[in-house]
Amino acid sequence: MHILAIHGSPSMKRGKTYLVLERFLKGAEKAGAITEVVFLQKEVIGGCTGCLTCWIKTPGKCFQKDDMTEVIKKLKGADLMILATPVYVDGMTGQCKHFIDRLIPLLDPHYEVRNEHFRHVVREKYCGKIFLVSVCAFYELDNFDPLILHVKRVAKNLNMEYVGEILRPAVYSLGVKKGDSDAIGGAMGAFERAGRELVENGVVSEKTRQKAASEIAPREAYLRALNRYFDAQIQRNSTN
Ligand SMILES: Cc1cc2nc3c(=O)[nH]c(=O)nc-3n(C[C@H](O)[C@H](O)[C@H](O)COP(=O)(O)O)c2cc1C
Repeated sequence: MHILAIHGSPSMKRGKTYLVLERFLKGAEKAGAITEVVFLQKEVIGGCTGCLTCWIKTPGKCFQKDDMTEVIKKLKGADLMILATPVYVDGMTGQCKHFIDRLIPLLDPHYEVRNEHFRHVVREKYCGKIFLVSVCAFYELDNFDPLILHVKRVAKNLNMEYVGEILRPAVYSLGVKKGDSDAIGGAMGAFERAGRELVENGVVSEKTRQKAASEIAPREAYLRALNRYFDAQIQRNSTN
């Protein structure tokens, strides 16, 4: 199985999204997958201008000569796409949305009804499956609800199969040091197990998903720690 991970956090390897993704891909590789990560922050990918050149004048080709050409080529050779994004204001990052919009040349402008729903005809076959990896700062798991719904709809729109997600809320409770408590170690282990399960079974078990998202610190303690952190940062950076 060839997995292409589209990583959409501007923090790249410094961020928590990568912390989770790295472990996930390690598990996938142990199960035999070949993995590759595209860091959208490093790529030059212009926003879709809505000119419809890719549908009308040069079917299947965007007029923008940027890194998206290469990313689409990689996507065509992959069996599974991972969309790895932190929650940004209840959704995916802008980098990810630009990327998704630029997949439109893969579709033909003509409409059809698929599963009782208006869709565009798919121009040619490309990576058939999508899996979501996400983190967020807020504590409650329902902070991922709008993002999950969006990615499920993206999958339908692009004629891909949505095959699940691994989520880590209260992501700052993972701490700076990796695996410095049983709870952190448990969550980190679950990220890796999730990657392995996805390759071996095609799905990630409910048990593994729950472990990945499980409590590391009680809500009040996490809240206090975050606010203390920001107080200290603001003080350190104040000019007075
Ligand atoms: C612009 C912006 C918007 C954010 N919006 C949310 C949000 O709506 N809910 C949430 O739980 N976290 C939110 N966060 C926190 C991020 O999800 C969190 O910091 C995450 O670790 C960022 O990913 P990274 O570590 O890979 O950079 C936001 C962060 C930024 C910078």
